[in-house]
This record gives sequence, C-alpha cells and structure tokens, in this order.
Amino acid sequence: MKTWALYSLKGGVGKTAAAVNLAYEAAATGKHVLLWDLDPQGAASWYLGIDQPPDLSAKKIVDGKVPLGRYVQATAHERLAVLPGGRGYRQWDAEIHAAQSPRKVIERLVEPFSESYSLLILDCPPGIGALATAILRAADQVLVPVVPTPLSLRAFDEVLDHIADKKVGKTRVRPFFSMADRRRRMHRDLLAEPPESMQQAMATFIDYSSQVEQMGAHRAPIATFAPRSRAAGQFRSLYEELA
Ligand SMILES: Nc1ncnc2c1ncn2[C@@H]1O[C@H](COP(=O)(O)OP(=O)(O)O)[C@@H](O)[C@H]1O
Ligand SMILES: [Mg+2]
Repeated sequence: MKTWALYSLKGGVGKTAAAVNLAYEAAATGKHVLLWDLDPQGAASWYLGIDQPPDLSAKKIVDGKVPLGRYVQATAHERLAVLPGGRGYRQWDAEIHAAQSPRKVIERLVEPFSESYSLLILDCPPGIGALATAILRAADQVLVPVVPTPLSLRAFDEVLDHIADKKVGKTRVRPFFSMADRRRRMHRDLLAEPPESMQQAMATFIDYSSQVEQMGAHRAPIATFAPRSRAAGQFRSLYEELA
C-alpha cells in the first residue's frame, strides 16, 4: 500500500479538492483506494456523500481503542472507500503529542489497511504540529498544493524548514501549483519562473476553475460530472504523474 498525504500549513489551498479527485482517479484506474479524512471539518467525506460522520475522537483513535476499519464506508464510486472525519478530530495534535511514540502514530494506525487497499490518501487539516510530523513520516508522497503567490510560497518554505528540523528523511515532498489564475500577472510570473523551493514541483498544475467549486453542488469528483473539462484533465494528469 502506498500512502499519499495532501498536506499544507495553510487552509483553503486545494488539499481536499486534490485528495478527492486523485482518489477518484486512482480508483477509476483499478486501484483499491481508501481516503482518510483527517480534517475535523470533514469536507472530503461530505464530497463523497457522507452526511453524518461517525463520532470518533482523536483520543480514542490514538489510544488504539477504536477498530478503525469498522468505520470505513463505501462510496458511490467503485473501489473508493472513505474513513470519514468529524468533530472529534479537533484534538489531533494534543493527543498525538501525548502518545508513546508520537511520530509513529499514523504509521501504526494505517498499517492494517495495507491488506485491503493499494492506495491510502490522507486529507490533512492545515497546521504544522504533531499530526503533521507523524504524517510526514507515514507518507510515501507528501503532496503540497501551493497557490502561486508569495505568501503561499513562504508557507511552503516553512514546511521545508520543519521537515529539515524533524529529519523526516524518507519523505518525498512534492509541491504543485494549485488554484492558479493565469489572468493574474503574479500567478503567471510565478508559474513561468518558479522559485528554487519549487524545484521538486509536479509538472502538472491545477488552474482556478468553476468545476472545482461545483464539486460542492454535485458532491462528487469532477470526472463524474464534467469528465471532459480542463479541471478533470488536470487532476488526471496529476494522478498519472504521481502513479
Ligand atoms: N482549483 C480551484 N479552483 C477554484 N476553486 C478552488 C480550487 N481548489 C479549491 N477551490 C475552492 O477553495 C476552497 C478551499 O478548497 P479546499 O480543497 O477545501 O482547500 P483545503 O483542503 O486546502 O482547505 C473550496 O471552496 C474549493 O471549492
Ligand atoms: Mg481540506
């Protein structure tokens, strides 16, 4: 089982949009995919049709008192399952920090899923605490959406510093430009000449598009309601680049 994390220090940059669309693409090409929605806001779960996420607390999960597999739900999409997030996830950092080996918490929790899934996608809440450190360690690929603006790039630099500090060695951090608006000069310039920190960036970038916003109306991945749109094509090519 491979683990990909959609992660950023910042909120509202396109993590959840990418998590849902990449998970769908992987499942559509035959992989058995589990998306674990780690965000207390539960947006990925909601996009995948979950109306009432189970009442799971981060504390019980970290303490190993919850048989996580029992909370996995099928979605309307073949081979794509979701482990929904909910309000009980608000305390991740504190609970993980208090655990025996905080950096290994996520690795340990997801291990049993390797029997049933070939790809695990983690949709992370924003932040840079104990959860982030554990995720950086657990993931084979850490996918970081970066909006082409100086502030968003600065946040990405901070993530790189954090990784260097924590010596999360094996991690492979792959940034990609997200919510790119090519009508804006600043976006165009940064896409044309990305800074040094974006050298490991994916070649594919995700444009700002109304199809991403429409995911909220359809509650579904873009490829299901606008398969020929540019946005669907971009998420597909992001997936192909990663796979
Ligand atoms: N490429 C995009 N084009 C247009 N809107 C986007 C795009 N990516 C995300 N959004 C919108 O921005 C908001 C935040 O996106 P989301 O994926 O939830 O970010 P995050 O998970 O990083 O907080 C949502 O309302 C979403 O519809
Ligand atoms: Mg999100």
